[in-house]
Amino acid sequence: MISQDIQKVLIEETQINERCKELAAQIEADYQKRGQVPVIVGLLKGSVPFMAELIKRFTFPCEIDFMSVSSYDGTESIGDVRIDKDMDLSCKGREVLIVEDIVDTGRTLREVKKLLKRKGAADVKVVSLLDKPERRVVEIEADYIGFRVPDEFVVGYGLDYNQKYRNLPYIGVLKPEVYR
Ligand code: XMP
Ligand code: MG
Repeated sequence: MISQDIQKVLIEETQINERCKELAAQIEADYQKRGQVPVIVGLLKGSVPFMAELIKRFTFPCEIDFMSVSSYDGTESIGDVRIDKDMDLSCKGREVLIVEDIVDTGRTLREVKKLLKRKGAADVKVVSLLDKPERRVVEIEADYIGFRVPDEFVVGYGLDYNQKYRNLPYIGVLKPEVYR
């Protein structure tokens, strides 16, 4: 059932599941080569469904943790990133894989990567479900990307508008009258 607030579905649940399978296999191959036990760090709350879909496919040993950072109010990004919840595990000397829902301006990733490196992480990589390259203001790319999306505000599969629609099992574009 498509929510009545959704104008169009961009990415179906089956496509997301298929892509998660491919990404998980790619990540697994890379980390197996490295021979370390990485910490998989989800950025709350948007990464939760994606992270769950990915990590259940990993067969290599890993640890998981979460961080919460905020830079967003409504549909526009503001410069500063605030750490609302830090990791519980230490990242010192560890290989870290950040799990993100979307890379938009790139500011969030830049700040989180900087922070983890400052705390002594040996390596920081990023997997993002979505990438919106047209909006980038900071030169940064995720190491693994699920899907490129056009410059439209998207919701679902973890992504919200004012905390709603995270539960939708697909990625969709909101009807403009919903946020106008
Ligand atoms: P930056 O600009 O720092 O932003 O790369 C990353 C964060 O902004 C949020 N974001 C969105 N959330 N639909 C959303 O629901 C979007 O189209 C969208 N674009 C950016 C998101 O939380 C991401 O972590
Ligand atoms: Mg986010």
